[in-house]
Amino acid sequence: MTPEPATPPTAPLQLTRQQMQALGEQALAMVIDHAENIREQRTTTSLSRREAMERLQTPILETPTPPSELLELLARDVFPNAFRADHPRFYAFVPSPSNFVSAVGDFLTSGHNVFSGHWLASSAASQIELTVLEWLQQACGYPADAGGIFVSGGSMANLSAIVVARETRLGGHDRQSVVYYSDQTHSSMSKGLRVLGFSKTQRRMVASDASLRLDIDALAAAIATDRAKGLRPFCVVANAGTTNTGAVDPLPALADLCDREGLWLHVDGAYGAAAVLHPRGAAALEGLGRADSITLDPHKWLFQPFEIGCLLVRDAQAMKAAFRVEEDDHADYLADISRHIQDDVNFFERGIQLTRSFKALKLWLSLRTFGVAAFRQGIQVGFDVADFAQQWLEASGQWDIVTPSQMGIVTFRWRGPGMSPDAVDALTARVVDRLRADGYATVMSTLLHGRPALRLCPIHWDATTGEMATTLTMLTRFAEEDIARR
Ligand SMILES: Cc1ncc(COP(=O)(O)O)c(C=O)c1O
Repeated sequence: MTPEPATPPTAPLQLTRQQMQALGEQALAMVIDHAENIREQRTTTSLSRREAMERLQTPILETPTPPSELLELLARDVFPNAFRADHPRFYAFVPSPSNFVSAVGDFLTSGHNVFSGHWLASSAASQIELTVLEWLQQACGYPADAGGIFVSGGSMANLSAIVVARETRLGGHDRQSVVYYSDQTHSSMSKGLRVLGFSKTQRRMVASDASLRLDIDALAAAIATDRAKGLRPFCVVANAGTTNTGAVDPLPALADLCDREGLWLHVDGAYGAAAVLHPRGAAALEGLGRADSITLDPHKWLFQPFEIGCLLVRDAQAMKAAFRVEEDDHADYLADISRHIQDDVNFFERGIQLTRSFKALKLWLSLRTFGVAAFRQGIQVGFDVADFAQQWLEASGQWDIVTPSQMGIVTFRWRGPGMSPDAVDALTARVVDRLRADGYATVMSTLLHGRPALRLCPIHWDATTGEMATTLTMLTRFAEEDIARR
């Protein structure tokens, strides 16, 4: 006899429609408040570990808590105590200037929880992902048989690119193989290579030139030296916008060199490649389409909330070969899926993850809602505000430009006549801390040519020259007051 299913009086994780509505409205109001009031908020606040524990560390409870109370706790104690990387005056690192439509996209993604690992599970969602990938592929100058995948961010895209490069050029791991990249390359590249088992001697960091671009002659010499030693050069990583200064490595010359040497060219455009949608960015990124693979993070200059990175590969088949599941991998419970796999695109064969969310939804929804012209306009704001900052600093007569406005980044240093370089270094750190304590804007420093420099990356679509001028006036006053106190 078939047993009767035992149904609990109410399913354990069920809400009524009214409860869902109320919770949804409370959450929606929080997000709208965030979007509407962000300009009035500090750009950063941090708790000490002790303060955070006092407010937030609780034992796991057996009993329910009204979710309205939990949302109040989040609004009071959690969301305000963070970097606001989506604030129009957050100029540090690479900001993540989000938008409301994409936040709705994220809600829909998790609300429907589509499994986007293979075609059978997510045919229409996969088609949307492919459509958005195709938009990006075309913008980067890729051919029709290119492919890609949305991943968590630039680190994962860079690591995945090396997997494809290694499989394509070497057929697997080879202890004699070598990857080349400039000393301005984002640390995720070295980290990814280390994770993939490349030893330090297989990771050749080539010096950058005076403008902090990969030095082609130094690269060619390093490749020749390694070949003479019997090593196997197989991949060059170029930057399409370094995180430090926005410098773009000489892509056409690097593509020529890689063609000559039979090397895979990966371009890390995690933050910069999105600027290809704008004529100024496209000009700066000339040669991008000749790369074998490209990292492009929509959660940076394409105004998406975390986490959405993207890897594009010139030949989609190369991804499939690298990330295939083989018979002796014993994916036995996927047998029914595999029977249906023919020409369909299965994202588990393009990357590391099997289970993955419908990552492209928010990007698709926002690109369709606003139109790509609005995104181009948003990118233009980054170029314009960085240009303005450079002009302001030059006109001040008190700051030296270390690297000019390029790809929305400008770096600078206090001129300090009569001050030693060490004194200017120390002043730079104190000015950063003073602005962070004030909270009006966030500006951080980086190390360039061995010395700290202040760095601005104002790529928010709603950044303004007025607020940039206020920030620069504050930095100048902080520097002057600091000097006067000593
Ligand atoms: C050029 C570049 N590559 C890679 C990364 C790493 O990306 P993610 O933090 O999304 O993993 C960054 C992050 O800022 C970056 O600027």
